[in-house]
Amino acid sequence: MSEKYPFSKGLAGVPAAETVLSYIDGERGKLYYLGIPIEEWAESSTFEEVALALLLRRLPKREELKMFNAALRSARELPPEVVDFILDMPLDSHPMTVLRSVVSLLEAYDYDAKLDDLEAKFRISLRLIARFPTVVAYFDRARKGLELVPPDPTLGHAANFLYMLKGERPTDYEARVMDVALILHADHGMNASTFASMVVASTLSDMYSAITAGIGALKGPLHGGANERVLRMFREIDSPEKAEEYVLAKLARKERVMGFGHRVYKAYDPRARILKRYAEELTKRSEYYQIALKVEEVMIREKGQKGIFPNVDFYSGLVYNGLGIDTDLFTPIFAIARVAGWTAHVLEYLEDNRIFRPRAVYKGEIDKRYTPIDER
Ligand code: ACO
Repeated sequence: MSEKYPFSKGLAGVPAAETVLSYIDGERGKLYYLGIPIEEWAESSTFEEVALALLLRRLPKREELKMFNAALRSARELPPEVVDFILDMPLDSHPMTVLRSVVSLLEAYDYDAKLDDLEAKFRISLRLIARFPTVVAYFDRARKGLELVPPDPTLGHAANFLYMLKGERPTDYEARVMDVALILHADHGMNASTFASMVVASTLSDMYSAITAGIGALKGPLHGGANERVLRMFREIDSPEKAEEYVLAKLARKERVMGFGHRVYKAYDPRARILKRYAEELTKRSEYYQIALKVEEVMIREKGQKGIFPNVDFYSGLVYNGLGIDTDLFTPIFAIARVAGWTAHVLEYLEDNRIFRPRAVYKGEIDKRYTPIDER
């Protein structure tokens, strides 16, 4: 079996699909959306424009972006039954659990989910992108016993999310930091959660099921769940003086240091580089930032030659922490951005769909006899 079907654990290096959406040059530490370097998107664009560009697979015209912005703003509110469902979730649920459950439920309230055409799936994509922030903010307010803050149609995507979360309008700087964070997380090639969404979509299941799978995959600590754990690690380390000893002890025990390493990048993740700048601006004087610098220094010294550098999750948590956001919302924020990539990849793949159906290398015996239960 294994000679006929070459096997690569974790599908490492195995191309699963063709795409024009994003490209990672792991050796040089470069990331491109639609061929344009991520630094340029972060400098000049907005999350809304990135999302539409990914969905259209090209830069949108001014009028298209205007219409998309308006449509996003008017799609932010949730059906009242779904709001009730959020209010009924156990208060100690992880916000990713809530997001995954609510996205699954939303299918039942969307007529487009019954349609098979790509236009309907595009409309669902837009609705999902518009509604993720509302789900996350509503649950966060509800669990804190605070009144829900309805979306404000005068605010852009990032600013409105911060507004719904905190109940007050963010400064332009805060809104821009969130916008850039969303831009940086919007897409990333054939990562585990994108692949999970595509596998489900390839069976011609519905868009909501596909995206629910993506959320489930992102939740794991080896993927999007790492950002939350990075901040927990900083808390555990407690002071910059203890950082070196902590990292060395972890490495000696052959444990992973969260926020480092990547399947594709063997150089510094360009997203981490951009987020580090914001982390510095927001948290320069905090202990956490000093701990982060020390952890990075020790990790690069110990593991840099093996191609292990900070990934996007290492500095994103510090940025969100600097914006006053709770730790368990970090991964949901990742999802708020990545839903653009998930939906775009699904739409792209469905244009020339083939069901994903890999093989397993069978390692067991064959032609064994069935032993009756009394004789085992
Ligand atoms: N800390 C310490 N050692 C590491 C780390 C790390 N964070 N990451 C990789 N290594 C080491 C492994 O121990 C292994 O060493 P070995 O060859 O001596 O056994 C080697 O580097 C290769 O690691 P793999 O696990 O084979 O790499 P893989 O490509 O399968 O995993 C992953 C990539 C999951 C990201 C891994 O680097 C990791 O666990 N990192 C920590 C979690 C994390 O930050 N995840 C977020 C990734 S970015 C994202 O999803 C948004």
